[in-house]
Amino acid sequence: MRTSSVAVSGLSEAPRPSRRSGRVDQLQKQVEKMLRRLRLAVIYGGNKATEGAVINPAPNARSWKSYEVVARDIAAALGRLGCRDVFVMPEDMNLGEQLRDEKIHLAWLNSGGVQGYGSTAHAPAMMEMLGIPYIGHDPLTAALLDNKHVFKRQLKALGIATAPFITWHPAEGAFNPWTHARFQNEFLGWRGDYVVKPVSGRASLNVHFVERVENVAAIAQHVYEVTQNQVLIEGYLPGREYCVAVCGPVVAHGKQLERNDGPFTFAEIERVLEPGESIFTSMDVKPISGARVRQLDDFTDSKVIDRLRELGREVFTALSLDALIRMDVRADADGNLFVLEANPKPDLKAPGEGVSSLICEGLARYDMTYDDLIYSLLADRIDAALSRGRGAPGKLMNLI
Ligand SMILES: Nc1ncnc2c1ncn2[C@@H]1O[C@H](COP(=O)(O)OP(=O)(O)O)[C@@H](O)[C@H]1O
Ligand SMILES: [Mg+2]
Repeated sequence: MRTSSVAVSGLSEAPRPSRRSGRVDQLQKQVEKMLRRLRLAVIYGGNKATEGAVINPAPNARSWKSYEVVARDIAAALGRLGCRDVFVMPEDMNLGEQLRDEKIHLAWLNSGGVQGYGSTAHAPAMMEMLGIPYIGHDPLTAALLDNKHVFKRQLKALGIATAPFITWHPAEGAFNPWTHARFQNEFLGWRGDYVVKPVSGRASLNVHFVERVENVAAIAQHVYEVTQNQVLIEGYLPGREYCVAVCGPVVAHGKQLERNDGPFTFAEIERVLEPGESIFTSMDVKPISGARVRQLDDFTDSKVIDRLRELGREVFTALSLDALIRMDVRADADGNLFVLEANPKPDLKAPGEGVSSLICEGLARYDMTYDDLIYSLLADRIDAALSRGRGAPGKLMNLI
């Protein structure tokens, strides 16, 4: 066993550079200075089947993906932005040791976890425990956003529109819509169809459109068998589908930082559904490309754009978020918008030959490149550390 005597390094004794809010030029100089000295690890989802990754392999309540390719895109952008020491590492049981051995100052979390329940929260929880500052949501927020039913309860409490829903688990007994009190209550007067899906999922996997209420039980049982987790039964929204991304106020355009008054909303796009495509086809089956995304028009779609921005800012502010989300939004038959989910780790695939990501397809409207987006997320995080002392910033401060 390796033991270590670790000197207690100060959370608070590190000198804090003086800071006046709004001094974005000063922030830019600080970020650039920091970038040259920063040792940064981009972390992707480790594979439980790899020797030594975990003690015991366990089921995945959330469909697993490594996201390593995207981690490498992020790392490459950070390299182009001037960060000389960028490492790409898997999240697994060796991560703490690797972070220590490579003397990492800051982690960029691009992982949905390795296995088990609440897996998107495992990496941030580990960073909190280790005292490593990170780019990503705190563990509670990561778990909340990745558990659609918990997020939707928050939306309901906040009065933000979301489709009617209940959760079901076989421990309650077989699902019978006619005797299920919560279902009867929530769907009172509902004339539409249904969606049955995992509470924690990704890329439309195991998401089912169900036409008739008598078919819900069998599909719910099937989703349970795949995920071993609660199942979400939701009202189907038959209208158009949109996305909007939201991040913190510090944003780069052409590598120049700007500070907005509030959260920055961008990548307002429509996801193009083909005739008869009730559920947006998984990107695992059909990669995201320009053809699957419609850029919203400033003039003809102005109402939708405004509403998406409003919803984005509302969710970001009400839940006190401080890292990137991409919200999936869908309209009912009358065009009213409802929040489907907020992805805590949206796909950040760099645009390339015939593949892209929903967020990157929507950057052009803001004169932003992929590298600008990566720079924005990094600079906003550093700003939060400098101005609010967010998350163990001690050693980061020493780099300036
Ligand atoms: N209530 C709903 N009404 C209409 N379509 C839905 C609904 N819920 C999910 N979908 C469809 O399924 C897709 C995936 O659902 P979503 O909730 O975004 O989960 P995830 O992206 O994590 O798989 C959505 O992009 C949308 O096309
Ligand atoms: Mg989605």
